[in-house]
Amino acid sequence: MKALLLVDESQDKIAIREIEKPNPASGEVLIQLKAAALNHRDQWCRIGLYPGIEYGTVLGSDGAGVVVAKGEGVDDYWLGKEVIINPNINWGDNEAAQSVEYHILGMPSNGTFAEFVSVAADRLMEKPSHLNFSEAAALPLGGLTAFRAIFTKAQIQEKQKILVTGIGGGVAQFAFQFAVAAGAEVFVTSGSDNKLQTARKHGVSGGFIYKDEFWVKTAFNETGGFDAIIDSAGGSSMNDYLKLIRPGGRLVHYGSTTGLPKSLDMFRLFWCQASIHGSTMGSDSEFVKMTEFVNQKKIKPIIDSVRSFDDIVSAFDQMHEGRQMGKLVVTF
Ligand SMILES: NC(=O)c1ccc[n+]([C@@H]2O[C@H](COP(=O)([O-])OP(=O)(O)OC[C@H]3O[C@@H](n4cnc5c(N)ncnc54)[C@H](OP(=O)(O)O)[C@@H]3O)[C@@H](O)[C@H]2O)c1
Repeated sequence: MKALLLVDESQDKIAIREIEKPNPASGEVLIQLKAAALNHRDQWCRIGLYPGIEYGTVLGSDGAGVVVAKGEGVDDYWLGKEVIINPNINWGDNEAAQSVEYHILGMPSNGTFAEFVSVAADRLMEKPSHLNFSEAAALPLGGLTAFRAIFTKAQIQEKQKILVTGIGGGVAQFAFQFAVAAGAEVFVTSGSDNKLQTARKHGVSGGFIYKDEFWVKTAFNETGGFDAIIDSAGGSSMNDYLKLIRPGGRLVHYGSTTGLPKSLDMFRLFWCQASIHGSTMGSDSEFVKMTEFVNQKKIKPIIDSVRSFDDIVSAFDQMHEGRQMGKLVVTF
């Protein structure tokens, strides 16, 4: 079968190679992938900025397809089913945090950038019926991360004012859609006006260009501040967010794309009774709740583009340049 491997020998660091089709072990199923989607994690792996890199691994955490074979002990029910895959492996029993054995599909275990993938049957969820394969493939990792950040960590409530930053991002587009669907008043930031316009079409109340020198002042004047801010940029923006958080508000960070803050305004943090929450992925029970929420609210992932698997390297390049609005999808 064709698969995209992380490779040491090529300048691109990723290459499509012919490898052996996996055999589902006991408790596993074999899925023929119809579509797969990129996450920034895949690009971090490509450039060596992800812990525990193993060359020769098939990348990819997100995918949707059809169950075509099963190992010993798996219910016949799954054969022929259209499914999405929970990318968590070994989250464990603690809802508060993942176990030490935790990892994510697609490094170090072989992932979804391949014609077939073998996963434990308890990782399967039926594909939401309102989504086609490309849309369904875009959902798992970003949807799960956004769901935990928005509901478990930020604890958003109807009518609260929420800011979701970097709206072009794969996770951020779920975060703002979930917050809108939950009845919050949602504002966003982006580096691009076009992306703000797209977000407005999906129900956000307003947006700000984070590259504008005075965006923090403008945002404060227009909104009076936010009950929660959901962010993956990190870096020096942390102090901007502290200027925008309302008393008792929550800052939730699931990434630090622009690096670490050089300083942190501790005075504002404690005087505002604000709290900072780290959030990573989500538990298996949150994965179930997230897909139920998406089914109930008929949420559709925003797809930047769908291309053939053979062109997947160009999708990585696009993500590296930050040109996408929503998810980059490949089909098989
Ligand atoms: N902890 C977890 O479980 C988890 C899960 C998924 C992702 N992550 C991390 O979260 C980050 C985003 O992941 P992703 O897959 O959504 O990536 P992505 O699709 O590549 O999105 C990155 C987005 O970051 C935004 N951005 C860049 N500079 C910014 C700034 N100065 N201020 C605000 N936003 C800025 C851009 O938004 P615009 O295009 O709108 O300008 C860009 O589209 C990555 O660092 C990733 O590793 C963590």
